[in-house]
Amino acid sequence: MATSATISTDETQPASGLTVTPLTGSIGAQIEGVDLSCDLSPGIARQIREAFAKYFVLVFRNAKPATAEAQLRLAALFGEPQPLAVFQFLGAHQPAIKFAPQSRVVESNDPAAPKPAAAIKREDLRGIAISGEFDGWHSDSTFTPFLPRAAVLRAEVIPPVGGDTSFSSLCAAYDALSPTMQAWLADIKAVHIVPEGFKEGINLPLYGPDAEERFDAEYPPREWPLIITHPETGRKALFINPGYVVHLVGLKRAESHALIRLLCRHVASTSFVYRHHWQAGDLVVWDELTALHRAPDDFAPHDRKVVRITAGRTVPTAPGSGG
Ligand code: SIN
Repeated sequence: MATSATISTDETQPASGLTVTPLTGSIGAQIEGVDLSCDLSPGIARQIREAFAKYFVLVFRNAKPATAEAQLRLAALFGEPQPLAVFQFLGAHQPAIKFAPQSRVVESNDPAAPKPAAAIKREDLRGIAISGEFDGWHSDSTFTPFLPRAAVLRAEVIPPVGGDTSFSSLCAAYDALSPTMQAWLADIKAVHIVPEGFKEGINLPLYGPDAEERFDAEYPPREWPLIITHPETGRKALFINPGYVVHLVGLKRAESHALIRLLCRHVASTSFVYRHHWQAGDLVVWDELTALHRAPDDFAPHDRKVVRITAGRTVPTAPGSGG
């Protein structure tokens, strides 16, 4: 069991009426005292961003008001609200994506970022994905050339049972590794791919008859550093997720698979996890780069509907690479 507790839990920071109360020893803080019905003052905006850099997940409980406008205002603190890279490439303009019971995406033409060299052919990776073993832990679409900086979730329909969203700190997971393992992983790159079922999940035919061909050409396997730095604090993070990572470059297939499984089990440890139980009026922001998230699958036969807005663009960057 990991022992690293990276946040002092007795900390509450009253300033300009805003309070920040940690929710676990490693990830998550509840924010109170922010009026999201109007533009935020620079001071409040700065404090929210500072809390975000420190806690990775911010819960605005009983946000008044927890409207779509408040959600968008909050998202805009972390960059321009925009759809995930895949939806931009396919043609979406709308920043919000609805989950359960329906999804919604539309046409757009965002300029595509530079394509990476494909280190490994997609067919070599078939059958390696291990996501099923780890219950859906992921960062969003890490096979794309950039990630959103933040996501904000608002629940429109909360089931009477189940329905919690979970988050894991990749910085706390890195800190808890032994120095030997940290040093050994330092220069390794991980290969991220479009996982099985992803294309079906986003209903590619909606985007035209050539959508699948365009999508496949745009998204070959992509390499990212396994150890990255937090863009604001410089903390190191273990950038792995069972949803998309299928290979560690330079290792034999069996070695790679065993290590990925070990690291994915590590990041899913309850030591680094905050589990959010939704209440009416909640808005939850999370870091798409140095936190993983997991949607629930435990609320059937009840309905659940959440709306997500993603904002900003970021790229996973290895320590010392200056990016
Ligand atoms: C998501 O994966 O973005 C949604 C999380 C949730 O449904 O709780």
